[in-house]
Amino acid sequence: MVREFTNIQQASSAAVAYIVDLAGSAVRDKGFFTLVLAGGSTPRQTYELLSAAANAEQMPWQQCHFFWGDERWLPANHPESNFCMADKALLSRVPIPAHNIHRITTGHKNPETGAELYERHLRDFFHLQGRAGMKSNVKDMAIPSFDLVLLGMGTDGHTASLFPGSSLLEEKKKWVAAVPEGVGSPPVARITLTLPLLNGAENVIFLTSGSRKRAILDTILTRPEEAVELYPAARIKPAGNLVWLASAEG
Ligand code: 6PG
Repeated sequence: MVREFTNIQQASSAAVAYIVDLAGSAVRDKGFFTLVLAGGSTPRQTYELLSAAANAEQMPWQQCHFFWGDERWLPANHPESNFCMADKALLSRVPIPAHNIHRITTGHKNPETGAELYERHLRDFFHLQGRAGMKSNVKDMAIPSFDLVLLGMGTDGHTASLFPGSSLLEEKKKWVAAVPEGVGSPPVARITLTLPLLNGAENVIFLTSGSRKRAILDTILTRPEEAVELYPAARIKPAGNLVWLASAEG
């Protein structure tokens, strides 16, 4: 589904409505809600709006668990850290328990170690949650199913830190992987969730803005085979719902 908006404020308001709705239903159904946050700048307004009292008071913060789709290999307080952006825009403003904030930690001896540690953390978390958070895919390898994954898309069609031409696009086993420096902006090393994990989600929402990204979306919608070869975002095909919130402005 594609929903078009004039500006990012409207798109952000729609995103917040989805988050509040899905959080409520997940907690009612199974007692907890798992949300993967997107990085970059587009989601900032969504996070700020979610922290506004009228929205925040609707959220079951004690039962919410927040994760990240990717992280730059930077300190948590670095202005270009995805955690830092979400912390300033949302986490520091709402009563989510600290142990429910599942940051991709950095500063280890190398990004590969960081990726291994985050995958282990995810396995421990979903093991603790039992079957409620897991789904077996066709290969009988249980894949966790996040209730909602928020994603952005770059003007090259990357999503999370899955960039065009990356060998990670063919990764079938790892849930989390390291991305060498030199790609993306900033061109630092990164840690990213992989396609099997992202595609296990019950719900995926893309938040995009601007005409260039809208043109990529058009290709994804109208020429999917071509898009899959060009744009990693085209490979996001969750078992559950996929919604694009596309703002013309931006
Ligand atoms: C990152 C992001 C990345 C982002 C896109 C879009 O760490 O860079 O996770 O995938 O979502 O680059 O970024 P903007 O929303 O800033 O255009």
